[in-house]
Amino acid sequence: MIEMIKVGRSYLPDIQALTDISFAVATGEMFFLIGRSGAGKTTLLKLICNMETPTNGLIEVAGYNINKLKGKKLAFLRQKIGVAYQDFKLLSDRTVAENIAISMEVSYKKPQAINQRVRDLLDQLQLVNKHDTLTCELSRGEQQRVTLARSVANSPRLILVDEPTGNLDASTTERVMELLTRSNKAGATIVIATHDESIYRGSNKRVMELRDGKIHSLARSNH
Ligand SMILES: Nc1ncnc2c1ncn2[C@@H]1O[C@H](COP(=O)(O)OP(=O)(O)OP(=O)(O)O)[C@@H](O)[C@H]1O
Ligand SMILES: [Mg+2]
Repeated sequence: MIEMIKVGRSYLPDIQALTDISFAVATGEMFFLIGRSGAGKTTLLKLICNMETPTNGLIEVAGYNINKLKGKKLAFLRQKIGVAYQDFKLLSDRTVAENIAISMEVSYKKPQAINQRVRDLLDQLQLVNKHDTLTCELSRGEQQRVTLARSVANSPRLILVDEPTGNLDASTTERVMELLTRSNKAGATIVIATHDESIYRGSNKRVMELRDGKIHSLARSNH
């Protein structure tokens, strides 16, 4: 689903956010990205969804060189990628339900199906009573869950999740991971950037650690 070959990303004047990154994520995999603050996790996720472009190297997503795609082809591929941003990027003057519905409206789903999906997601994330609340009135942990619900709502083939549990208690974290696991079992490939060891420990999933913008290790988490 994802292949990076010798990818680098630098920022002016002399920040080397990522250097010589080569790895691949298989279709249907749940893959974890870890590393200290500033290691390059968010930059890597932004490169995969074409929010940032690499300074060098090649990135293929679903077999396409995502940085070369343009117009309709790019829009079509982007619709198949759900992203939960570390800084949420919710529309603050819209309700919780409206924010979650957006990705489904863009792909012309029927209103009835959209409403049902929104209600199911809110139920799974214990946010049913926030359906009509403006997102600017939510706590950070609630905003984080709305962001997650929006990223999975349209059943994308690839889901990129940046720090999904940072503001959550243990039982809400479990709910979030259940939702992601359900999407994964339904066939979605998922990449999760996290500081929360509890969500991958003992999972037998692959975990890649970045250190100073380079791959430090890539191994299965089986302890
Ligand atoms: N738009 C930008 N302009 C300049 N520097 C940037 C930009 N985006 C990221 N960086 C720098 O690139 C490096 C990697 O940042 P990144 O946000 O990818 O780290 P991270 O691993 O996601 O950290 P955190 O765990 O704190 O979220 C940092 O040194 C950061 O300051
Ligand atoms: Mg980050």
